[in-house]
Amino acid sequence: MCALLALKRNENYELAMIAAMLHDFWTYVTGKSSDHAEKGADEARKILNVLGNFSDSEIEMICDAIYHHSNKESDQCAFNKILIDADLLQHYLYNPMLELPKEKAERMERLKEECGLSHYAIGEMMCRIHHNELPVS
Ligand SMILES: [Fe+2]
Repeated sequence: MCALLALKRNENYELAMIAAMLHDFWTYVTGKSSDHAEKGADEARKILNVLGNFSDSEIEMICDAIYHHSNKESDQCAFNKILIDADLLQHYLYNPMLELPKEKAERMERLKEECGLSHYAIGEMMCRIHHNELPVS
């Protein structure tokens, strides 16, 4: 999802994909969601430094996106918005019936428009998941 949005918006899709994979790392490791974006960014920085495949500026981009991914109301750079939007879209697609606050709901509507997701297509997809015709993960 994150890589597709990055491609669509002419951002670095490889870095977006790495940010997506690591963005909830803190929660995966600890089972805790409190401050997971900030703590996850610190953990991601350690991992990326150990791997040695990324420049300092790439690590900064990835970790900044992770740090801010839960802050969906703040104004962020184009790259950070990709992870924020992909995360929101993933949460929505997991449960389209989820009640969203007004700002998130408006953002979600813009995202659905950008991604060409109609209410019909989402409903069809949810029916197929419900009937085990599509994998959920
Ligand atoms: Fe998260």
